[in-house]
Amino acid sequence: MRLGVIGLGTMGRPMARNLLKAGFSLAVYNRTASKASPLLELGAAWAPSPADLAQTSDVILTILPDTPDVEAVLFGPKGIWEGIRPGGIVIEMSTIAPDAAVRFARRLAEKACEMLDAPVSGGERGAIEGTLAIMVGGREDIFHQCLPILRALGQTIVYTGPSGNGQKTKLVNQLICALNIVAMAEGLHLAEMLGLDLEITLRAISQGAAASWMLSNLAPKILQNDFAPGFKIALQRKDLRLVREAIRRACRHEALERADREREAFPGAELAFRLFCEAVAEGLGELGTQGLITLYRRRA
Ligand SMILES: NC(=O)c1ccc[n+]([C@@H]2O[C@H](COP(=O)([O-])OP(=O)(O)OC[C@H]3O[C@@H](n4cnc5c(N)ncnc54)[C@H](OP(=O)(O)O)[C@@H]3O)[C@@H](O)[C@H]2O)c1
Repeated sequence: MRLGVIGLGTMGRPMARNLLKAGFSLAVYNRTASKASPLLELGAAWAPSPADLAQTSDVILTILPDTPDVEAVLFGPKGIWEGIRPGGIVIEMSTIAPDAAVRFARRLAEKACEMLDAPVSGGERGAIEGTLAIMVGGREDIFHQCLPILRALGQTIVYTGPSGNGQKTKLVNQLICALNIVAMAEGLHLAEMLGLDLEITLRAISQGAAASWMLSNLAPKILQNDFAPGFKIALQRKDLRLVREAIRRACRHEALERADREREAFPGAELAFRLFCEAVAEGLGELGTQGLITLYRRRA
């Protein structure tokens, strides 16, 4: 089976490496071609455009920032649509709007092609170690057909139902993650304000009831003054924007009457979105999400 990967950023590069390590034949495309070099050295083939990549791949994996980027790579000039052959499968692994995922899958079906929405969780480390959580929406038989590919990338691979359900599940994941980041940053900032030693504080609390992925993986980075991404603050804000859009749709769906009902029903989503918007406005968007603590520190 010939695979193609489009998007060699923080996540896409190590994911492509793991597919090569698992023995798949792989073509790659990235907007900035130079990022492909380490993968070409490992045996990947370069495709000059998404259309070229689609022409020679049975299964195409995309991992790009946002909905418009995925739409451009799928259906824009020299996009996947121009090259994909009937029977081709797209595994779309970016975090994008669930309704867009459904729309893209329907359009691909016009060419007798399939699309799974298969967003991931577990961060750069999960991508490097091949331990991602992958939540998959789409046709169940196509999911089973693609499992050997997904197993090279992740550990917890769950079929969540029809097209769009993978992205809906990911939005639930992202709301919980964002609130955990806020909790971690605010908690550590309180420790600073109380004059506590952060390293001792972390040792004392990180195995108790306050334990979380964020506390284990991101808090140590704060202690080391390491604010490199990982997962960029700008991308977390994008995910919270998608969460809010999904909430608004769900509230409308339930025919709730008051316009601001979603704000009352999901106050945590509103708070996290506001904080991440403020962080981006203060120029912190390219930091890893642990950089949210900088917002607190600047205001102290
Ligand atoms: N980082 C994480 O921890 C993490 C975890 C889970 C899920 N995710 C999700 O995974 C996706 C990718 O995240 P990432 O952290 O890998 O992002 P990233 O490091 O910013 O990489 C994005 C990649 O997409 C390419 N790209 C951007 N816009 C494009 C466009 N319009 N057309 C073609 N290519 C384009 C970039 O190309 P260039 O090289 O030319 O810039 C780059 O290769 C996002 O949806 C994110 O929410 C990320």
